[in-house]
Amino acid sequence: MIDIEFVRSRFIKHFDGKTGNVYTSPGRINLIGEHTDYNGGFVFPGAVDKGVTAEIRPNDTEDTVMAYAIDLKDRVDFKLSDPEGPRASWARYIYGIALEMKKLGVPVKGFNIAFAGDVPLGAGMSSSAAMESCFAFGLNDLFGDNKVSQWDMVLAGQATEHNYCGVNCGIMDQFASVFGKAGCLMRLDCRSREFEYFPFKPDGYRLVLLDSVVKHQLAGSPYNDRRNSCENVVKHIATKHPEGKFETLRDCTWEQLEEVKAEVGEEDYRRAKFVLGEKDRVLAVCDALNEGDYEKVGEMMYKTHEGLSKDYEVSCEELDFLNDIAKECGVTGSRIMGGGFGGCTINLVRNDLYKQFVETAKEKFNTKYGHQPKVYDVVIGDGSRRLC
Ligand code: GLA
Repeated sequence: MIDIEFVRSRFIKHFDGKTGNVYTSPGRINLIGEHTDYNGGFVFPGAVDKGVTAEIRPNDTEDTVMAYAIDLKDRVDFKLSDPEGPRASWARYIYGIALEMKKLGVPVKGFNIAFAGDVPLGAGMSSSAAMESCFAFGLNDLFGDNKVSQWDMVLAGQATEHNYCGVNCGIMDQFASVFGKAGCLMRLDCRSREFEYFPFKPDGYRLVLLDSVVKHQLAGSPYNDRRNSCENVVKHIATKHPEGKFETLRDCTWEQLEEVKAEVGEEDYRRAKFVLGEKDRVLAVCDALNEGDYEKVGEMMYKTHEGLSKDYEVSCEELDFLNDIAKECGVTGSRIMGGGFGGCTINLVRNDLYKQFVETAKEKFNTKYGHQPKVYDVVIGDGSRRLC
């Protein structure tokens, strides 16, 4: 986690010397349930011990925000009343969240903010959700008397992506960042928004991320196209079944998908096929976790990878290569994590294999791509909170 004093020293230096409140929110991992959130399905994320930490202080102006991104050494000032908002992509998260919190009735006024993060950027660990949740939590505390609920902050983060950053994401990342709890994964039903905490202490196993360092970028990426494909399939099924209520693929069966196969085309069909399969896999993983059957969990992870790679087509050569190495090394489970198009694989690996696996992956990847993957041991941490 980012050191509070580090953020504070920059906050003092770049503004008027006064201190504010310090907030933090984490990035996330996801054990299984990928691209299911915007399809009304299940996800299985957990917050990590890496995140974004921000110091914020109202600056007595009506609507001037002075923002400093410590890691980028970049300062941007803007007004909340400016309809365009700032151009710098990192500053748009602050602008977007502030406006979304205002919509929720928080009387946000001008403020100074400096922030830093240790969620690797572009690794598929949701550095953007960490920013949104952190800023939402801070503005709610400073201007809103903490009246906005955790769920509304989750939705404000998602709306920021949709309205200001061009990513039509689901709610998994913001949910995990706000609701995370140390030592626990969470199973969320994205349709009903019910969730439960699952203590995750796999005896004899651990989770490790291998970052391909292929930068994943969801804005302007085919991420939104995937979502459109899913929605297209739902539309066709709904037209065929006017008697039913079809909001997302969650409401659709395998038979109904088969019925529209010819009309939606091969590509959209394969996308939907992955999503229906993934819904079943998350439920199978829950049962397996309850029984302590980690081999079964791993088997599902490999299936998910295959689906994400071949049917959903959000993998890349480097991630497939890392997945192959995991298989060769006898790793229990391995798959692409997050939106895809780069980023990490998440690996469930037996303790006795861990060292050999990581060494082999580094060596083989380096031979092929000229650099090593980065290795992050997963520590499941707490969600959004005030630090001081
Ligand atoms: C990104 C999005 C999430 C989710 C995942 C894929 O992280 O922000 O909403 O769709 O991709 O599971």
